[in-house]
Formats: sequence, structure tokens, C-alpha cells
Amino acid sequence: MKLWAGRFEQQTDKAADAFNSSLSFDKRLYEYDITGSIAHVTMLKKQNIIPAENADEAIQGLKDLLEDINSGKVLLEGNYEDIHMGVEEILTNRIGDSAKKIHTSRSRNDQVALDMKMYTKDVLISIASKLTNIILSLCDVAKDHTETIMPGYTHMQKAQPITFAHHVSAYIEMFKRDYSRIIDCLDRMNTMPLGAGALACSTFDIDRDYVTELLDFSSTTLNSLDSVSDRDYLIEAMSAFSMIMMHLSRFCEELIIWSTEEFGYVTMSDAFSTGSSMMPQKKNPDMAELIRGKTGRVYGSLVTLMVVMKGIPLAYNKDMQEDKECFFDAYDTTITCLDIFGKMVVTMTVNKDKMRYAAEKSFINATDMAEYLVKKGVSFRDAHFVIGALVKYCIDKGIYLNELTMEELKSYSEVFEDDVYDVLGVATSIMVKTVKGSPNPKIVGEYLESVKKEFSVL
Ligand code: ARG
Repeated sequence: MKLWAGRFEQQTDKAADAFNSSLSFDKRLYEYDITGSIAHVTMLKKQNIIPAENADEAIQGLKDLLEDINSGKVLLEGNYEDIHMGVEEILTNRIGDSAKKIHTSRSRNDQVALDMKMYTKDVLISIASKLTNIILSLCDVAKDHTETIMPGYTHMQKAQPITFAHHVSAYIEMFKRDYSRIIDCLDRMNTMPLGAGALACSTFDIDRDYVTELLDFSSTTLNSLDSVSDRDYLIEAMSAFSMIMMHLSRFCEELIIWSTEEFGYVTMSDAFSTGSSMMPQKKNPDMAELIRGKTGRVYGSLVTLMVVMKGIPLAYNKDMQEDKECFFDAYDTTITCLDIFGKMVVTMTVNKDKMRYAAEKSFINATDMAEYLVKKGVSFRDAHFVIGALVKYCIDKGIYLNELTMEELKSYSEVFEDDVYDVLGVATSIMVKTVKGSPNPKIVGEYLESVKKEFSVL
């Protein structure tokens, strides 16, 4: 019999029962559910709302049940509507009457709100710690390449010289923002909803702040309707996950391109590559492609919940049960991708020579050459035109800018002098840049040091 069956005359239809049940996926919350119940009963006892002996028996029963689920002695299977009903029914079968008192002054609406928040806090902490690892790993990868020159691109066209460390550091900045988004989300959602009851609290003199303390939340929610209706934090978390995935995906996209024979900038480790069933020569960057692909899946989860929530009147409605599968999947996907990405990126080989060659056989020093003319008094627009014309001349002749003779240079601008050749080396460009945020090896090196220091203590 259902725990709520008092006013019912008929059994639930079998198909409706299966359709309604969330146990198959919300059993993931069992530990939070039981821990939340222990705190709730502890509070009921302190407030003399249920007799101490019932409370003690229920608390012990809940602890034993938790242990038995953890050890596999009790399986969370059966015809339960959800994890909350499941725990209560199993406990009732084990200890009897004391179990029937634990739901005093509580509804599944505030119970599920609490469970999901407790779960999400742990999820956010685990994502934050994975991001910390990734940031530190990328610092390690980058620190050996502050002088590894490569072409920087815009529009996928070679643009200006940068270093591999500088490029990796761009991702470090993205992951640092991701980290702070996760921490912001954690700070904002760290409010304890239990005690809101179904929607309007109850007539019992409960101590909500005590439960907040017991469960280590930073504060207690301030409106009972909002407490049971709020799923903003899941959307916020999935939005942060989506951005993490977007950054992983962009990096993976680059690794896929860079590991082509045409680029050859990196070689993925065999351990993170796969072969072809038909073509013997193939070594494919499947891990990077999967991360790119799974990004769509996380975005999908975010959009799912945004759409679920947009038309729900206050307070709880069963639509909200749809928050779980998408959130669980978004978390599982993001944490796995972070894990695989971290391993993949520290095991890849960086092919410095290929990067250097690609930088040298290019016109990425054209901007430096234009700036050279500006420093000699030519306006930037005129300098831009002169160098553009020289580039065209070189392309027609099949040479690069540093191969032009002084005579050729002078025929385009009288201002050129011998010192122009100093600015044409690809390394010169990054060495002379001293501005904050530039690719200069010293600046990038110091940046990496400071990030490492900041994130090592987290
Ligand atoms: N399984 C439900 C959920 O995940 C728990 C809350 C049910 N509340 C209710 N009034 N039916 O949302």
C-alpha cells in the first residue's frame, strides 16, 4: 500500500506507477536522503516534537540502513515511488513505529529540495577540484614551452607569432573563470530548504537553523514557496558545466586539427588514441572528438531543465522530477570529460620543430614590420599598405619577408634600414613585447608561476 493511500479507493495503474517512479535514477541520492533524515529527526527530538526514544531508534535505524545499502546488503530496488518513499518504507519494515514519525513536519517537496542541494554541493566541489587539477596540469604542460614559437591564428589563418605556453595559458584563463563560476554557484545555492514542508511550513515549532548547522549549509532559505520550487541552482550549475564543456571542446578541436599530418603540432599518446577497423595506418583522436561531441549532450541537459522550469506555477509540481536525469547526466559527462582531458593533455607530445617551422614559413612577422615603419615615423595606415604590397611581392616571388634585399625593401619605402632584419625573426616579436598579457616568455612564465601558486593551495 502507498504511504499516501488514505484517501484512495483504487490501486495505481501499473503503467502509471512505473511512469511515476523515479527510484531507478534518484536512488543515487540515498546517502543524502538518509543523512538529511537523521538531521531532521535530531532536530525533532531537540524540539520535543517526537519522543526521544523514537528519535533515537529512528536515527540508529537510519544509520544501520545506510551501512547496509553501502555494503550491498540492502538493494534499492522494488516498487517504491522514489528514494524518499523507499527509505521510509524500508525503515518502517525494519524498525516499525519509530520510522513512522520521521516524516513529521516534512514533505517530500522540501526533502527532495534538500537532497538535491546536498548532492549538488558535493558535485560542485568535485568539479572545482577537477578544474584545479586541470589548471595545474596545464601550467606544467605550458611551463616547458614559454619559448616554443608557433603561429597564432585568426580566421584559421596564420596571424602573429605566439608561444605554445601562451596558447595553453589562454585555456588556463578560461578554466580559471569556470572555476570561479562553480564557486559562485556553490556560494549562492548553499541555503538549506528543509522545514518548508509541502509549501507553507507546518504548525510545529521546528528549528530550521539547527538543521542548517547540522548539515553544514551556510544559511537557511527565507521563503517556503521558493524553497520547494527553486531549481535555479541546477540550471546555473549546468550552465557552468556547459561552459566548461565549451572550453574543453574548443581545446579538443584544436588538438584534433593539430594532430593531423598537415599540422603535426602535437602527437596524441597511443593510450588516448584509437585505430581504424579497416585502414591500418590510422591513429584517430577519438577521445578529443568524444569530448567535443559530448558538449552537445551537456548543452542539451541545460536546455531541458530551462524548458521544464519555464511554465511551472508555484510551488512544487511533478514536472520538477525531470531535473534529475538531465542533471546527473550533465555532471557525469562533465566530470568524465575533465578526467579524460586531463590525462590526454599531459601525455601528448608537443612537436616544437613543426610549430617553429610553421611560424618561420609564413608572413606572421608582417605586423611587426609595419610597426617598425611606424616607429620610424610612417603613419600606421601607410605602413600597412607598404607591407601588404611587399607581402604580395613575396608571394609572387615565392619568398618570405626576411629574404627581401635592402634594395627591394627600399623600392617600397625609403625608410627601411638594416635594422629591419632584426624585427623579422619570429622570436624577436615576442621578446620585445613587454605588455601585461603578451606572449613574452618572461611574462607568461611569471603568469604560470602565479597561477600555480594560487591553485596549489586550493
Ligand atoms: N520524486 C519527487 C521528485 O523528484 C519527489 C517529490 C515528490 N513530491 C510529491 N509531492 N509528489 O521531485
